Amino acid sequence: MIMLYHGLEERGRVWAQIMAERVPHLPFRRWGHDAVDPAEVRFLAAWNAPADFVAQFPNLEVLFSVGAGIDQLPIADLPPQVRVVRMVEQGIITGMAEYVAMACLAMHRDLPFFINEQRAGRWTYRHTRLAAETRVGIMGLGELGKAAIEMLRPLGFTLSGWSRSAHEIPGVACHAGAEGLEAFLAGANTFVCLLPLTQETRGILCRETFGKMPRGSAVINAGRGGHLVADDLIAALDSGRLRAAMLDVTDPEPLPAGHPFYSHPAIFLTPHVAAETRHATAGEVLADNVIRLLEGAPLVGEVDRTRGY
Ligand code: NAP
Ligand code: GLV
Repeated sequence: MIMLYHGLEERGRVWAQIMAERVPHLPFRRWGHDAVDPAEVRFLAAWNAPADFVAQFPNLEVLFSVGAGIDQLPIADLPPQVRVVRMVEQGIITGMAEYVAMACLAMHRDLPFFINEQRAGRWTYRHTRLAAETRVGIMGLGELGKAAIEMLRPLGFTLSGWSRSAHEIPGVACHAGAEGLEAFLAGANTFVCLLPLTQETRGILCRETFGKMPRGSAVINAGRGGHLVADDLIAALDSGRLRAAMLDVTDPEPLPAGHPFYSHPAIFLTPHVAAETRHATAGEVLADNVIRLLEGAPLVGEVDRTRGY
């Protein structure tokens, strides 16, 4: 019985050390570095791996995602008994909360407009607002959405959220499900997508939802590129339906050279850096979870495979 790691070399080195200290009786092997008998692999840790890679381990029991999301892994091709666990790690959570605060402030204070004016050599006045006048709507009230809310709260934004099941968060107008979407979209003017990518959420940032947002809204996507319909975003920005967008994720990644997002004056791009898995803290999270697994205890971040997140 072994645990196999497939991913960044540096993280593999750090994790091998942590696992050797914390779970010494479970051999931790690194793909491309150690000799591995595929039949011995019970646990696999990976960021992304193609289906034919995962299929070579007939006795796989648990697939640990290196990231908070799992859509980059071939989940649909896994046998039904294989458990899938996502990474619930403070480095990712804090990193995302920081990113959302930065993006909301940038949109709120019209940074895309002022940067474009600067580039054009113009000194252009535009009236500014205070945060309470900006209504931030968070799509997804999970680990990241809740942390983003707590980072935004002291800045004074008016906050709302949308999730699959009903939530109650003090000071936040919470909406849920398909029936709550329209009121949610009408009630904010800066939207932050922190949803997992599932069959239900793919393409959710599209012409139809943009049409239900107040005219001139801003959109921030730090979920997955598949949440956004690229052509619909460009059309909404060009028509003035949306004011600006900040995108950390795209489909595909990397975004090919020449893609219109690179040069659009109302789009800010970051290359999927909103929240990174921190090697050391994530290694401890993995070790904690493996210890729970070997003791038969519930795992932190286990994915409900029927729900898809
Ligand atoms: P999470 O804890 O599983 O939370 C997911 C949230 O989305 C929950 O509130 C859930 O509702 C809601 N949701 C799921 N399906 C929905 C639907 N159909 N309609 C409405 N709400 C729905 O996930 P997380 O840890 O916050 O992470 C969210 C995502 O962020 C990840 O899956 C990943 O794609 C992305 N991410 C991006 C980066 C980056 O660097 N850009 C980094 C890390 C993660 P319930 O509360 O009702 O279940
Ligand atoms: C990054 O995108 C993650 O899912 O952790």
